[in-house]
Amino acid sequence: MGLPPSIQATMNPDKGVISREIFVDPGVYQDELKKLFTRAWLFVGHESLIPKPGDFYASRMGEESVILCRDKKGEIHVFLNSCRHRGMKVCRYDQGNTSLFTCPYHSWSYTTDGKLQGVPLYRTLYEGQLERGDWSLIEVAKMVNYKGAIWATWDPQAPDFLTYLGGAKLHLDQVLDCRDGREGGSEVIGVQKWVLPANWKLAAENFLGDTYHNPSHRSVDLIGIGPSAVAGKKGRRDDEMENAKHVWVSFPAGHGVHSAIQPENNEYIESYKNDPIIEEYFRHCHNERKRRLGDQARVTGFTATYFPNTSSHARQPRGLCAWHPHSPTSTEAWRFFLVDKDAPENVKDMLRRYYMRYSGPAGMTEQDDMENWLYATNASVGTIARRYPFNYQQSLHAHSSNEFVPGTVSTQITEENARGFYRAWGAYMNDGSWSECLGEDNLKHPHATAAE
Ligand code: FES
Ligand code: FE
Repeated sequence: MGLPPSIQATMNPDKGVISREIFVDPGVYQDELKKLFTRAWLFVGHESLIPKPGDFYASRMGEESVILCRDKKGEIHVFLNSCRHRGMKVCRYDQGNTSLFTCPYHSWSYTTDGKLQGVPLYRTLYEGQLERGDWSLIEVAKMVNYKGAIWATWDPQAPDFLTYLGGAKLHLDQVLDCRDGREGGSEVIGVQKWVLPANWKLAAENFLGDTYHNPSHRSVDLIGIGPSAVAGKKGRRDDEMENAKHVWVSFPAGHGVHSAIQPENNEYIESYKNDPIIEEYFRHCHNERKRRLGDQARVTGFTATYFPNTSSHARQPRGLCAWHPHSPTSTEAWRFFLVDKDAPENVKDMLRRYYMRYSGPAGMTEQDDMENWLYATNASVGTIARRYPFNYQQSLHAHSSNEFVPGTVSTQITEENARGFYRAWGAYMNDGSWSECLGEDNLKHPHATAAE
């Protein structure tokens, strides 16, 4: 069963027409939980949140609670947070350290590698009946630790994570690699969680590269909230993008990126004149990255969404955000702020303050965005409003390719990334094969190893 005919009739990403129903309809929402969130690779958390054996961090996949956990031997697992006896949450804390997850209801207990260990009155009530080995916590089908970020899927047929990511890997690397170009090495310095009354796709779509919404941020651009916080310096960020050429990149698997390519000389642009130590740190990182990556260092990440519900900022600010669905009109946002683990403490502190100024429920830029998403959701639930589709015709067919970045590239502001997102969304909702959901490009990508 695919989408209902009434929705199919007003859904045509190739022509830039998207049904409003998909943002408000409870039936569509239930189908998303069943067909999309059970198959796609989802971001669950970061290894720095569970550094020691026994550490756990309660997370979510779709609507469901999961436990991200490091077992006694140091292996990372992702379990459904639901007891095999009657389904009680076995972990009711946000994070911590334990040797056992003991269910509060009837006290079955599970080891940190998910095995059922303790069953009260086992000998009297269960001996000969209950085979403990058959009743472990339910574990995801596949899990990967990609440069510290943990991703998982419930689908045993899912292609490996890098195949799923395809050419979008280049952009995720910019979020997870060190600022000086070394691979990996990031850590989470804080997580903000909040609920907003909007459909999850509006947030995911914004980060795909909706640069057209810049007028929404006029107030923060006027006062200036950039990382250096220099008096009189307007804007939300510092100057590193000043001379860059912006590109918008779409991938058939539904990922979308707004990135930028620096000019050939890729010179460092001074931004922290008030603080010589911080200035020196960023200058050093810039030059080291250039030395390590050569011409590829010219690609300077910006925002992205990795299909379906993980978004990122790659530079300033820097972090990953999961848009967890609660209902058609409610989303729980989890923003994980990242820094280089070995950055000096004063740099981390400066970034932490900047991230809070910019993002999250109290962040001045994110407040502008959220206001748009929640009013757009609310104004689309009405009987009349739902009859009329949204327009996604911006820069239709205005795209090409680029030597630095794989994917469908546009050098002008475009809604192609959103159209690509809804093409992929439609493939999942129509129970498409993995080839249909990812598009041929990913399956041919050099990282591809095990697609259907
Ligand atoms: Fe967990 Fe009964 S529900 S022990
Ligand atoms: Fe915005």
